[in-house]
Amino acid sequence: MKTLIAANWKMHKTRAEARKTAEAVVAGLPGNGRSLIVFPPFTAIADVAEVFAAREGLAVGGQDVYPAEKGAFTGEISPAMLRDAGATWVLTGHSERRHVLGESDAFVGRKTAFALSSGLNVMLCVGETLEEREAGQLEAVLRRQLREGLADVAAETAAAHVAVAYEPVWAIGTGKVAGCAEVLEAHALARRLLRDVVGAVADEIPLLYGGSVKPDNAASLLALDNVNGLLIGGASLEAESFLRIAEAG
Ligand code: 13P
Repeated sequence: MKTLIAANWKMHKTRAEARKTAEAVVAGLPGNGRSLIVFPPFTAIADVAEVFAAREGLAVGGQDVYPAEKGAFTGEISPAMLRDAGATWVLTGHSERRHVLGESDAFVGRKTAFALSSGLNVMLCVGETLEEREAGQLEAVLRRQLREGLADVAAETAAAHVAVAYEPVWAIGTGKVAGCAEVLEAHALARRLLRDVVGAVADEIPLLYGGSVKPDNAASLLALDNVNGLLIGGASLEAESFLRIAEAG
C-alpha cells in the first residue's frame, strides 16, 4: 500500500503564504514513492493545486464539505466547488469539526457518502477524547465513528477512495504524541473494526496516524504495523519540516 503523508493546514495561510509553502514542497519532493496530500484553507486550494499542477504523487484536498450539490447553505462548500478548485480529496470528521463545531457521527457519514458519490476521495478522521480513553471507551468510540462514518459507502468504494486517519483528540496540537504502543494498539483495533464495517477490503484502506507528528517521531510511527501514513497539523505548516516527515524512515 502507498504511504500517504498529509498536511492539514487548518485555518492558516493566506493565498500568497500557501503558494510559497506549496512551491517549497514541490522543490523538495522526496521521490520516495510516497503520496503527499495538502489540505489548505478553502481560499488557497486553487493556488496550491496550480502550483502542484497535477504532478504525480501530489494532491490537494478540502478540509470540509457539505453534503449537497448546491442550495441555501450559507458558509458551506459543495464537492463540485472543491473539485472545480482542484481538490481531489476532502477531510471528513476531523476532531475539531466534531468537538469545536459540534458535528455528529451521522452528519459525518452523510458528508463522507456524498463526497465519495461526487468523485472525491475521502480521508475520514476518527479518534477518542481523553475522557473517553480513560473511561475505557476507545473501542466503542472507534466502532461508532467508523460504522456511522462509512454507513452508506459500498465496500469497493471504500477500498478505492477512502483513507482513515486515527487522531486521538488528546494528542492533537498538544505536543503529546501517542506512544508507539498506544498507536499500534489503536491501529490494530481500527483495522479490525474496519473489517467489521466493510469486510476484507478493509486491508486495502490506508490507516494514517495524526496528533503531534514531528520530524523526529515520524520514522518510528511509520514503522508500526497498520500505520500507512501520517496526517500532520502544526509541523506541516513549514515545507521544511513537512518534507522531513515525508522523507522519514
Ligand atoms: P497536530 O499535528 O498539530 O497535532 O495536528 C494534528 C491534526 O489535527 C491533523 O489533522
